[in-house]
Amino acid sequence: MSITYKKLDPKDFEDSFDANQAFALDVLVGLSETHKSLSSKYLYDSAGSELFTAITKSPDYYPTDCEREILVKYADEIAQQFNGVAFNLVELGAGIGEKTKILLKRFTELDLEFQYVPIDISEGAMIELVSDLKETMPEVETNGLVSEYFNGIKWLNNRNERRNFVLFLGSSIGNFNHAGARTFLRNVWNSLNHEDCLLTGFDLKKDIEALLLAYNDVAGVTAQFNLNLLVRINRELGGTFDLNKFRHYGTYNVFNGAMESFLVSMEDQDVYIETIGRSFSFREWEPIHTEYSYKYLESEVKVLAAETGFRVNKMLFDSRRFFTDSIWTVHKPGA
Ligand code: AVI
Repeated sequence: MSITYKKLDPKDFEDSFDANQAFALDVLVGLSETHKSLSSKYLYDSAGSELFTAITKSPDYYPTDCEREILVKYADEIAQQFNGVAFNLVELGAGIGEKTKILLKRFTELDLEFQYVPIDISEGAMIELVSDLKETMPEVETNGLVSEYFNGIKWLNNRNERRNFVLFLGSSIGNFNHAGARTFLRNVWNSLNHEDCLLTGFDLKKDIEALLLAYNDVAGVTAQFNLNLLVRINRELGGTFDLNKFRHYGTYNVFNGAMESFLVSMEDQDVYIETIGRSFSFREWEPIHTEYSYKYLESEVKVLAAETGFRVNKMLFDSRRFFTDSIWTVHKPGA
């Protein structure tokens, strides 16, 4: 009797389980929990990405201004990291690249030898970024990768010997819980070589009033951003959410140190979702959890670096110490 096994190629299954089904499954699971939830990754369809860009322009949402201030003030210090050595400036989730351009411009003025490698899973975002750079910064050698982050870095490492300087700007790390952040950073570490560098933005713990305002901006853009998740379910999954019957609520959880966003049902109601083929009941004032934005202490950033195999090189702060861009070096024992 022969006993064998066959290794299945995940690619063979791609068609039978498409993104829409994965979305439907996540919505089904999330809305079936006692405490209903929807993953924040679904906030970013094209309307959601545009609304997030609008949030970053809101005077109430301080993180973007703080990080811009840091990059302008410390561009030369950041440049010193790889002065005299050719490197890949890799950016994870490049978005519209507005803050990155501060570094691209300064690195070019300083005549550093680098190529810019934005990595993004969204081809649409990459096309926009590349066409914008062609127009606004044609002098910067840009080779974008449409890929999952870690595969993108590994692919790059197999093709050139340069050192890598990875940027993870914004405070996207805060959208992971602490275990998720550790896993993410360890995966970055795995994909990099000894002495490569990582710059990550961390939003810091601060006056709770400033946090509350940032996630409940006066113009209501954050509310629209959050409610767009229901618009997306209506459009992509045949949902019947009435947007007037849900309200955005952003609050700070003092125990876990995270801003948390919810959509709260304003009345008892049933919502049918066609793709799932069933209704979900909501009680008056019942919340759906939609997002975590963890805030850090300086000491917590340092612990996170040590736990995931990095050495903290520099902590750069804005004038209010609301935000830090923390530069870490990969340390591989025995390298
Ligand atoms: C993308 N991310 C870092 C933002 C944040 O602050 O957590 C998303 C956001 N949610 C509400 N406002 C902004």
